[in-house]
Amino acid sequence: MPETPQSLLFSSYTLRGITFPNRIVISPMQMYKTGPDGLATLWHFQHLAKYAIGGAGTVMTEALIVDPVGRNTYGDCGIWSDNHIAPLRDIVDFLHGENTVAAAQLHHAGPKASRQRPWEGLGPLGDAEAALGETPWQPLSSTDSRTIDGWLQPRMMTPDEIKTLVEDYGKAAARVVEAGFDLIDIHAAHGYLLHSFLSPVANSRNDEYGGDITGRMRLVLEIAESVRANLPADKPLFFRLSCVDWRKDLDDRTDGWTIEDSFVLARELHQRGVDLIDCSSGGIRAENSLMDYAKKRKKLARGYQVPHAEAIRNATGIPTMAVGAILDGPQAEAILQAGQADLIAIGREALNDPHWGLHAAQQLGIDPEWKQWPDSYGWWLELRERIGIED
Ligand SMILES: Cc1cc2nc3c(=O)[nH]c(=O)nc-3n(C[C@H](O)[C@H](O)[C@H](O)COP(=O)(O)O)c2cc1C
Repeated sequence: MPETPQSLLFSSYTLRGITFPNRIVISPMQMYKTGPDGLATLWHFQHLAKYAIGGAGTVMTEALIVDPVGRNTYGDCGIWSDNHIAPLRDIVDFLHGENTVAAAQLHHAGPKASRQRPWEGLGPLGDAEAALGETPWQPLSSTDSRTIDGWLQPRMMTPDEIKTLVEDYGKAAARVVEAGFDLIDIHAAHGYLLHSFLSPVANSRNDEYGGDITGRMRLVLEIAESVRANLPADKPLFFRLSCVDWRKDLDDRTDGWTIEDSFVLARELHQRGVDLIDCSSGGIRAENSLMDYAKKRKKLARGYQVPHAEAIRNATGIPTMAVGAILDGPQAEAILQAGQADLIAIGREALNDPHWGLHAAQQLGIDPEWKQWPDSYGWWLELRERIGIED
């Protein structure tokens, strides 16, 4: 028997009562493909189903919106009513049938709500969209100042609205559980509502939800408690964080959220039942956004956010997930072997190759006989390879 190389990427991993069959997680990716009712459609079904067939051990939904005022666009998927449960349950059932862990992300866009879909420009909705039936609405934020010039003027959330929001997250979690999902990821990154409370660049409140880090963390800690209270003890809770605001990298400004702040928050979250930090970055300002990179013709570095996952894991001992420009099996394997993260999330490269997980296994030499592929595909592909095709 040939020796099977040891792979961490293809080893199982357990958090609470859930065993992940491998370390590959499909990163949450909004499709902007619903109608205004926010119901998941067959598009969402096929989008997520194909990654389970493609070898990912865990497939995460796109950001599911907890309150319609928190939609990015009119095409966002919702979880703000019980009507949203049934089509999501169909997706979960399919994923479970493929032995895939089903993960759901909860979200509120906050100051970035009411905007165009990416391919329409990503800017705020205006008269042109209103004429087509997509009327703008006023976004909510930690404060009433815009974080991005030219965007809609947000309104500062009142303490009563904050209380309702915390309850909305709890109700959304209960719906996700009802749909059968195995875990929840709370989206607190990329300049959206929860990030707008955390970051000193955005939050200038002078009540108990602003001020020092204790005040700025208060909302997300209450939300983590609310979600945890509605999630059975055997189901893990993840938390997606912009680990840094990248302000130091921008004209050496020191006014943003830092990796040290992330250590403090991660420990507080862990005490409230968060099991893993999902390590993203940036988004609180237009500078250093992907659009800004494109404009300035700056390149992304491979694995550009992996050092954050590593730093949080080392400083706190809390499991982390790395994401961002992780392109192939050997790169993902090296991150795990170096102890930089516990799980690997794949976004755009999965759009490019829905069979990313199956190809990663082949790149790592652990599936020479196409055994990880669904039988209906693998049998034929293995036979074709054995026969060979003349040039
Ligand atoms: C089409 C698309 C939609 C996205 N939607 C979400 C989302 O719903 N929630 C989220 O946290 N991140 C979202 N992201 C960010 C990705 O999850 C991921 O963190 C980012 O793309 C970096 O990983 P990558 O280099 O593997 O794509 C989205 C990215 C893309 C490309």
